[in-house]
Amino acid sequence: MSSKDRVIIFDTTLRDGEQSPGASMTKEEKLRIAKALERLRVDVIEAGFAIASPGDFEAVKAIAESIKDSTVCSLARAVDADIERAAEALANANSGRIHTFIATSPIHMQYKLRMQPDQVVEQAVRAVKKARGLCADVEFSCEDAGRSEIDFLCRIIEAAIDAGARTINIPDTVGYAIPHQYGEMIGQLLARIPNADKAVFSVHCHNDLGLAVANSLAAVVAGARQVECTINGLGERAGNAALEEIVMAIKTRHDLLGVHTNIDTPHILAASRLVSGITGFPVQPNKAIVGANAFAHESGIHQDGVLKHRETYEIMSAQSVGWHTNKMVLGKHSGRNAFRTRLEELGIQLADEAALNAAFARFKALADKKHEIFDEDLQALVSEAQDEEAPEHFRLHSLEVVSKSGALPRAHLLLSVAGCEQEATAEGSGPVDAIFKAIESLAASRANLQLYSVNAITEGSDSQGEVTVRLEKSGRIVNGNGADIDILVASAKAYINALNLMQAGVPKAHPQAADV
Ligand code: KIV
Ligand code: ZN
Repeated sequence: MSSKDRVIIFDTTLRDGEQSPGASMTKEEKLRIAKALERLRVDVIEAGFAIASPGDFEAVKAIAESIKDSTVCSLARAVDADIERAAEALANANSGRIHTFIATSPIHMQYKLRMQPDQVVEQAVRAVKKARGLCADVEFSCEDAGRSEIDFLCRIIEAAIDAGARTINIPDTVGYAIPHQYGEMIGQLLARIPNADKAVFSVHCHNDLGLAVANSLAAVVAGARQVECTINGLGERAGNAALEEIVMAIKTRHDLLGVHTNIDTPHILAASRLVSGITGFPVQPNKAIVGANAFAHESGIHQDGVLKHRETYEIMSAQSVGWHTNKMVLGKHSGRNAFRTRLEELGIQLADEAALNAAFARFKALADKKHEIFDEDLQALVSEAQDEEAPEHFRLHSLEVVSKSGALPRAHLLLSVAGCEQEATAEGSGPVDAIFKAIESLAASRANLQLYSVNAITEGSDSQGEVTVRLEKSGRIVNGNGADIDILVASAKAYINALNLMQAGVPKAHPQAADV
């Protein structure tokens, strides 16, 4: 297969995905997702928007320093300060890319930018040249291209390629396009722009009409060779095109599309679960590829057909995207070496020996309570060990909950608050409510609880429960996570984790802000 038949997969879970209200992630969480994306063999990881906040800058920098096999990219508006900050964050990348953008639709130019089309072209050219002076790999995006005039797009893209952009992205920023029309638009741009052969054409589709994947595939048929997407379709409003759907459509319908990607598809499910666990955005059961029912056959006729010949009702195998790889990998008699080896096989790297020891101690404690330890258990346990590296203002020491029919549940807990042990008791309408009230009586955060979700990590009634708690205060949103066999303990840990993140946080800017 030649390289012109390869579709570059550009993942923007850590940037556009994070713009989903409530999906903010810490640096450590972003690093974990970046490693999962590298393992998936994603070509380009958009790690963030470096100028948005000191936290975003640090996250892009850390990812640029630790990822070796994927290109690491930072977003930058078409202004010097953004581009310089992106270059600074990417300075130590093995392979870095600056992604600069400006809006090109009449409505954005007139009302948001308050600029004339000539000024927009001039600014785009200046930005691309500036970025090329700092980084060899530059991508230029025409924001709201889906509602831009084709003649203007031809003009600005030709100028951006002349200025040094090697990837040209045509975003459907507001999810307005329809597949045949969007495909035709990409085809026209490729045919009409005289220097189009000097750049890779990319698409970036939002899902407001539920057409992000269909539009991206129509663009690939028309000649686009980079698709921007996110794990689980996470992203602004209705989200972005889902990576797993794009990749599996390209793989499954190679007969029709004639292109391929480099993605190592058996790692898809693990990446999906990681993103869902960290952000607290559950995956709906009927979601293509990664939903719990995506490969479940309920009707007798279907079950009979699959048993006789799998392909009667399955167009791809569950294993090809990572289902049914659950293994009882370790047990209570497993040693440190076996534990370390399995983590390495799962692509999990711990910071140092101390982190390994902490994770191993947790593993032993878990193995005492739970007979079978699955890969997902290991992932949750290591996440917690990594979270512990973050500063902890609040720490749970013990928890006791009494819940009996006909009486209000009561929680009693011992917390350390800035190093001092304190205890609290509270009643609530349910046991979780009682726990959160007891914690709040000590923390007094006055944050609003926006989401509380519990998921079983593995099969079986002895599964660990993974809890996500989303807290909001003065517009700032954080997601806390906790895992434990006892879901009440997991709930307390998740609430405390969210409080610790809130304690450490700083505000950030939004890339689509008009202050260009
Ligand atoms: O949707 C969009 O237009 C974007 C750009 C910044 C690429 O996310
Ligand atoms: Zn976008």
